[in-house]
Amino acid sequence: MISVLDQIKEAVAYIKGHYSLKPEIGIVLGSGLGNLASEMKVDKEMYYEEIPHFPVSTVMGHSGKLIFGELSGRRVVAMSGRLHFYEGYKAQEVAFPVRVMKMLGIETLLISNAAGGVNTSFKVGDLMIINDHISLATVNPLLGKNEDELGPRFPDMSEPYKKELIDLAKKTADKLGYKVKEGVYFGVTGPTFETRAEYKMIHILGGDAVGMSTIQEVIAACHVGLNVFGISVITDLGIREEHNIITHEEVLQAANEAEPKLTALFREMVKGI
Ligand code: HPA
Repeated sequence: MISVLDQIKEAVAYIKGHYSLKPEIGIVLGSGLGNLASEMKVDKEMYYEEIPHFPVSTVMGHSGKLIFGELSGRRVVAMSGRLHFYEGYKAQEVAFPVRVMKMLGIETLLISNAAGGVNTSFKVGDLMIINDHISLATVNPLLGKNEDELGPRFPDMSEPYKKELIDLAKKTADKLGYKVKEGVYFGVTGPTFETRAEYKMIHILGGDAVGMSTIQEVIAACHVGLNVFGISVITDLGIREEHNIITHEEVLQAANEAEPKLTALFREMVKGI
């Protein structure tokens, strides 16, 4: 069987054969947060299914796409349609696009997601800059044979989210007049939302927000030496007195409402990268 490294190389060769410009920044957008593409000057779109070895779900019926172009004058590649572990992709498959984007030339990865708040000072609609994460409740995409050409067997994870990018985001948010929170993202596999006891446990363990994405992409990004910035939109609150039910609709609605703020933040931030 062809190695993961060769799969990445074949995917990259295909993409370079159809689009010759080198992106500098990769962007992965969370559920309900995909509008950023409309701010881009789009050069080229490539559906996942046309790219060799790109993970495509047959269950979903249609695949996402890579969008190449410019955002605020910077060359970017954005993933429209994210791969989630809970959809049945392997952790390594979720990481695949990040590795491809790295080999295409990006140096920085911007990631957003929708997440449940477990920090009791958070409100629905808050933006939380991710300053660290807890990945122990998810599956690590680096399990198995290490590809030394990609990165080390035992990657350092002391600063998965780059301090300079966090500082830049705070300055940018200030300029835009946004109040942003900061905290630890706790990764879970989903697809169930957490029980009340689980939300409390996550908070006790040091999480400020909990979500079903991001972790595998960030680990893969750290492995290959990318500078990562991550931000969560708090779409629901896990720790609360009333016996409210959390629904996917509520999550999407809150994400959609916060989306313009996040789009503006990314649009302004990339100017400073
Ligand atoms: N838990 C896990 N994932 C999520 C949540 C949540 O409460 N909200 C949005 N994604």
